[in-house]
Amino acid sequence: MPDPSTVLLIGASGLVGRHLQKALAGTRTVSTFHRNGTEPGLQLDITDDEAVRRTIREAKPDVILLAAADAYVERCEREPEATRRVNVDAPRVIAVESKAVGALLVVFSSEYVFDGAAGRYAEDDERRPINEYGRQKVELEDLALATGRALVCRTSGVFGPDAQRKSFVCQLVDRLRAGHAFDVPSDQLITPTYAPALADAVARLVRLGQRGTFHVAGPRILGRMDFARLVADAYALPAELLRPRVTTELGLLAPRPLRCGLDVGKLRRTFGTDLTAPDVALREMALAEAA
Ligand SMILES: NC(=O)c1ccc[n+]([C@@H]2O[C@H](COP(=O)([O-])OP(=O)(O)OC[C@H]3O[C@@H](n4cnc5c(N)ncnc54)[C@H](OP(=O)(O)O)[C@@H]3O)[C@@H](O)[C@H]2O)c1
Repeated sequence: MPDPSTVLLIGASGLVGRHLQKALAGTRTVSTFHRNGTEPGLQLDITDDEAVRRTIREAKPDVILLAAADAYVERCEREPEATRRVNVDAPRVIAVESKAVGALLVVFSSEYVFDGAAGRYAEDDERRPINEYGRQKVELEDLALATGRALVCRTSGVFGPDAQRKSFVCQLVDRLRAGHAFDVPSDQLITPTYAPALADAVARLVRLGQRGTFHVAGPRILGRMDFARLVADAYALPAELLRPRVTTELGLLAPRPLRCGLDVGKLRRTFGTDLTAPDVALREMALAEAA
């Protein structure tokens, strides 16, 4: 597709949404938030079906970016029905409306659609989620792809400038800066993804007219401890405060798929290059925060 004329960005107040908003500068964008207002933006609860239908029909977008979700893995496990309303039922209504207005629907999924036995997964590897968040993401992918005009972006370990400081990187930095120890799962692989690079890549995939499923993630699969050490290094914080813990010691409700790296070969072939490497991205982020 050439440059879209109108994008509807649902969930512009989240970590991914805020960076998408920046990546879309210059494109007419109608943005929504839920509890954390963004300017300019419309307040929208995606579980309000009528409000969703009205918003889409009034915006008449040619692309809908659905970055809104209840992205807490533990809450999905504890409150499957409530989270399913946000993560599956609401997207189903959005998908129907997206089809009705002829828009491309872009949704965000996760490496948690896999069971974590293999270590590295390609787009068409068998999905076998082991927790509720992963199961909801499988349903999200399927309902989006069923529209026939969708882009499913699977990502992992997103980090970047984050006003709400909820991400793994921000929490780690804040704890170490305060001189406190920080528990790091020592047996989990992630594919750290720099939010500004993710957002630029999604905007580029849309402009290239891509459809289907893409792993939109950073170029390196890392153990969380290795990634945590990169964070400490970039921010000149004491890595000795990082405490490795096996996942079973963390008292988590939702089982975690442990070895869930995302293979980004398809993205690399499409762009001819990788997204920003995590060490480079972390230095950029630390410098920007220090400025
Ligand atoms: N962050 C990661 O590492 C990661 C990894 C893999 C996949 N993903 C996926 O990427 C997407 C974006 O994640 P994120 O990290 O940006 O999440 P986030 O920071 O928690 O942001 C969630 C967004 O959803 C909105 N939202 C929540 N409930 C809503 C509702 N009922 N109605 C309307 N909006 C609602 C929030 O609005 P308010 O803030 O205004 O309430 C916010 O804009 C999600 O699908 C997530 O599962 C993220």
